[in-house]
Amino acid sequence: MDLGAMLKDKRVLVTGASSGLGSHFARLAARCGARVVIAARRKARLDALAQELQALGSPQVLVLEMDVASEASVHGAFEAIAASGPALDVVVNNAGISAAAKAIEQTMADYDEVMAINLRGVWMVSTEAARRWVAAGRGGSIVNIASIQGERVAPGISAYSVSKAGVVHMGKSLALEWAKHGIRVNTIEPGYIHTDLTGPMWETDYGRELVKRIPMRRLGKPEELDGALLLLATEAGSWMTGATIAVDGGHLCSAL
Ligand SMILES: NC(=O)c1ccc[n+]([C@@H]2O[C@H](COP(=O)([O-])OP(=O)(O)OC[C@H]3O[C@@H](n4cnc5c(N)ncnc54)[C@H](OP(=O)(O)O)[C@@H]3O)[C@@H](O)[C@H]2O)c1
Repeated sequence: MDLGAMLKDKRVLVTGASSGLGSHFARLAARCGARVVIAARRKARLDALAQELQALGSPQVLVLEMDVASEASVHGAFEAIAASGPALDVVVNNAGISAAAKAIEQTMADYDEVMAINLRGVWMVSTEAARRWVAAGRGGSIVNIASIQGERVAPGISAYSVSKAGVVHMGKSLALEWAKHGIRVNTIEPGYIHTDLTGPMWETDYGRELVKRIPMRRLGKPEELDGALLLLATEAGSWMTGATIAVDGGHLCSAL
């Protein structure tokens, strides 16, 4: 079964596509021949990525400045998607931030921002997509990028963990509600992945200690999420909904 070929000519929205895993997922979709909608707040980065995606083989690339924390921005982005081509087939809810701090030192503004982007943003993008799919009488696939922090916890990152646990539960809840419409909602829980953003951290003593706790004793690479993403995004996962897949080098089953 060629999972990549199953994405050919499908229309795929990737939120948070301006860096890290989001850019990677957009490149993956483009290499598979998908029409790609890339969204984030930093448009200049998306414009540069758009050229790359076309060169990789995407038949249509749409760049959208979208803030997932803003209802107006999300709604406007979906209007632009509807006006510019076929309906979406796949939504990858990847946009996310972290705000590391001990809970008693964390400002409510930082807590609210994490929730607004990581949790409320996933809800808004998902419901906006599903509302349109239901109205059109067609299905679709939503893939949420949560984290192993949605299952287990680490100190100094509580707000992030709570938001990601919410994403895991949201995936199940919305899957239940929308299964009858042919809308599948599934979740990937990445472990620690080496991205440009996290790269410098892994060179520190703290980072090296963290890696020792991963049973496979190494970080993941973005491409090691590709199998899970393609499985959930395409018809290869046609009987999967409400599922959660950890891709983490065994981190979730590390010894207590
Ligand atoms: N890297 C890891 O080890 C790892 C592990 C587990 C889970 N994850 C999850 O994977 C996702 C991507 O992480 P990453 O490592 O690739 O981080 P990253 O490089 O910082 O990417 C985060 C992306 O989210 C976007 N974003 C942030 N706030 C946004 C907003 N309000 N509206 C729209 N887009 C927004 C950013 O774009 P703009 O700033 O341009 O808006 C950026 O493109 C996140 O959900 C993260 O929690 C990552």
